[in-house]
Amino acid sequence: MDARVVAPPVAAVADDAAHRRLTAAYQQSLRYAEDLRRLYVQLQRGVYQSLLGLANALEAKDPYTRGHSERVSRWSRRLAVALDLQPHAVEVVTQAGLLHDLGKIGVPETVLRKPGGLDDAEWALMKRHPLIGAEIVAPLEFFAGGALVIRHHHERVDGSGYPDGLHGDRIPLGARVVAVADVYDALTSDRPYRRALSPEAALAHLMTEAGRTLDEAAVATFIGLMRADGLAG
Ligand SMILES: [Fe+2]
Repeated sequence: MDARVVAPPVAAVADDAAHRRLTAAYQQSLRYAEDLRRLYVQLQRGVYQSLLGLANALEAKDPYTRGHSERVSRWSRRLAVALDLQPHAVEVVTQAGLLHDLGKIGVPETVLRKPGGLDDAEWALMKRHPLIGAEIVAPLEFFAGGALVIRHHHERVDGSGYPDGLHGDRIPLGARVVAVADVYDALTSDRPYRRALSPEAALAHLMTEAGRTLDEAAVATFIGLMRADGLAG
């Protein structure tokens, strides 16, 4: 057989080898990127777990708030999904729901555990917790949206909330979502100074607050979810 007839040209062989090397390098870089992405997700999870440990330590000191963060997170997630938030925003709201009261770590225990009303000075200390919580998570660049939710979860749509007295849509949507879940859970939990309200009574209270202190659409959607659950949550 005449080799000149069947052998590909030298340039074609070189091109082919170069193409294979390029393809292999590209595949390798894709694997590196995937490894990096996985590592990044693991790191994020590790950071969340550490923060959650802090939040749990805080709740362990106060039997009246035990489980509060988990419930607020769960309801916030469902509400965010029902309001059609983007998947990333749903994740941010879920994590921020877990960590929303993290800043209470910086509030003296005598204030946190005081039965009955707080005096002005104590109330001023208590009202710092959204700022403290936002400061704790501020170094986490990937959680910048969560820091905003934590900072603003006590804002009220009529501007009567804290720390910044924001009105309506100026309050980040995630914070308006967490606020509804937070208020509902507070109302349906025993407190040192009052018994828990029934789910029905708590929903009736949310309705009176819709458009006044709480986001109207978020309250309507939340009530829809609760009714669909037979109020089980
Ligand atoms: Fe709070």
